[in-house]
Amino acid sequence: MLRTESRFPVMVGRMAARIRVAVLFGGRSTEHEISCISASSVLRAIDRERYEVIPIGITPEGRWVWAHDDPAALEPKGRELPTVTGDGSHVALPADPTAGGLRILDLNGAAGALGKVDVVFPLLHGTFGEDGTVQGLLEMAGVPYVGSGVFGSAAGMDKVHMKALLRAASLPVGPYVVVRSPDELTDADRERLGLPVFVKPARSGSSVGISKVKKWGDFESAVADARKHDPKVLVEAAVEGREIECAVLDRLGGGPPEASLPAEIFVPEQYEFYDYEAKYLSEDTRFAVPADLPHGVTAAVRDVACRAFTALDCAGLARVDVFVRPDGAVLLNEVNTMPGFTPVSMFPRMWAATGVNYSELIDRLLRLALVRGTGLH
Ligand SMILES: Nc1ncnc2c1ncn2[C@@H]1O[C@H](COP(=O)(O)OP(=O)(O)O)[C@@H](O)[C@H]1O
Ligand SMILES: [Mg+2]
Repeated sequence: MLRTESRFPVMVGRMAARIRVAVLFGGRSTEHEISCISASSVLRAIDRERYEVIPIGITPEGRWVWAHDDPAALEPKGRELPTVTGDGSHVALPADPTAGGLRILDLNGAAGALGKVDVVFPLLHGTFGEDGTVQGLLEMAGVPYVGSGVFGSAAGMDKVHMKALLRAASLPVGPYVVVRSPDELTDADRERLGLPVFVKPARSGSSVGISKVKKWGDFESAVADARKHDPKVLVEAAVEGREIECAVLDRLGGGPPEASLPAEIFVPEQYEFYDYEAKYLSEDTRFAVPADLPHGVTAAVRDVACRAFTALDCAGLARVDVFVRPDGAVLLNEVNTMPGFTPVSMFPRMWAATGVNYSELIDRLLRLALVRGTGLH
């Protein structure tokens, strides 16, 4: 398969044709609102002299809408979180590279062109966004996009396959078992994992459907909770350690990826773990950016993060989350291929602490996408 040519515009004095970026946000996952907030920040910070932005909202039902280019409309209003409504022209991207890009679908279903798109920033989290599905559509359409491709996105979304790939690359992963019903966990499994265990849906995010089980009597209902989100359930031994995250970026010149300084999350004592409330609603959750770790541990976290990124065939960006045990050992928890992307989200904060500001980050990701193009790499 051929690679798409790089699509940087030809400069004519200061009057370069701007690069047309479709920012996709919202979507059909539980992380719809977080995605809208990320998009609001990107619309505000993107370099408008270099990029022409086409904001495309995806409703929770999956309808694509040509949204107003208005960051304020996508910000939280008090405790009310933003969502994409169906108002606005209905838009579609044909999976046909010769079709000329985005189309407006009018009420009669007749298609009108919205025009060629140079690159897509799929600021979507979770299913139908971060899992390879939208990436597949963009590959079909022949439009370059920010972030990992079909395989890397799917590998990052499914914690079972993620862990298998990390293990196969000799990276440190804790003990776990995959079950589809509670009775699949044998006595030998229980003995090996010990208590507590974490029970989680294989393909979810934002801690949705996750429980910490401290006695086996609670195990069955924890599996039932996880199965509300995914029939495939992961049971993991609880790791005792500090919650550390590290942001990874590809380099514009090619070569191995680059890791930021790691950060630490301090979950307040009233929470059993970093659950949905501690993540998005609590004002007591604290962060240290960068994390105060011994030099050797910082280096180990950065090294493991880059190796995990490569093991999962990630591209562009990923946030790699690890635990650092009391003895300093690093254990991988998960890799997020489209992490939260507001200026106060961990990924941009870690890069800011490492010397790359928010606007530079957006520009680097779009340039990386344009250089990478579509097709095999
Ligand atoms: N094996 C584990 N040991 C200790 N804590 C865990 C473990 N697995 C998950 N957790 C806790 O649950 C949180 C969410 O789990 P995670 O696997 O990262 O799911 P999500 O994709 O929803 O973020 C983690 O940030 C951590 O606080
Ligand atoms: Mg997580």
